[in-house]
Amino acid sequence: MANMMEKAAQVLAAKGKTTRIVVFTGAGVSAESGLGTFRDSDGLWEKYRVEDICTHEAWLRNPELCVEFYNARRRDTLNAQPNAAHKAIAQLQKAYPLTQVITQNIDDLHERAGSTNVTHLHGEIRKLRSEINETDTVDLEGWEQHYGDRHPDGTILRPYIVFFGEGVPYFSQACEIAAKADVMLVIGTSLNVYPAASLLQYVKDGTPILFVDPGMPEFGIYKNRVEHIRKKATEGVPEVVKQLTIDNG
Ligand code: APR
Repeated sequence: MANMMEKAAQVLAAKGKTTRIVVFTGAGVSAESGLGTFRDSDGLWEKYRVEDICTHEAWLRNPELCVEFYNARRRDTLNAQPNAAHKAIAQLQKAYPLTQVITQNIDDLHERAGSTNVTHLHGEIRKLRSEINETDTVDLEGWEQHYGDRHPDGTILRPYIVFFGEGVPYFSQACEIAAKADVMLVIGTSLNVYPAASLLQYVKDGTPILFVDPGMPEFGIYKNRVEHIRKKATEGVPEVVKQLTIDNG
């Protein structure tokens, strides 16, 4: 693994507050807040079948089961608190105002930790959406969606979740953000799901990529461009943020 931390510090020394840091997160950043990941040994996809609750066909076939699943996720999210990793990312954004957060997560823990302008690639658990317009959303108060409530456009509201096989509405914006990154910080993702995982391909050659994850994600072609910090998010992210901010505070 290359020493990308040093390279990141050089970039920050040269660019200071104008440095464009991109933080790309997966379920691992929220694991220590008590929200389940998907593919770890106790992950959600060990307990539920994707084809039963996370495809458009499943939604049409058995919407009540889908509503029940996402109501449970929403209740967990409301009961969870942002952890030290979410807070460190929010601090990083304060120190470097051009920092952008792109997440695969549907929880709002980045926002509740103080991050702003978060791009959610796979939807947001606290919102519902129109059946016909994928980005026309309404906020949901509390944890419980009642199946059958209608969007102002008349269609039955569905969870604002990108189901498997559906398009990722904000992916092109996320690629534009990644293409401008001077430093990339990736946290807690197995890089199993596309197109989200291909975001790293849009990062310019030579851009240091720091990857915080206690597991062994499949880096594949990025192997030589990534420094893997094999730690849990609440330990590794504050350490990285501290190093990136004190060196160039
Ligand atoms: N700190 C940091 N990373 C962790 C922690 C932790 N405490 N615990 C687990 N991880 C890591 C795992 O090692 C793994 O690499 O988090 C990652 C979780 O991987 P997945 O469960 O596959 O989650 P993710 O990569 O976010 O999945 C992507 O798949 O099902 C879809 O839409 C869903 O957004 C999700 C997408």
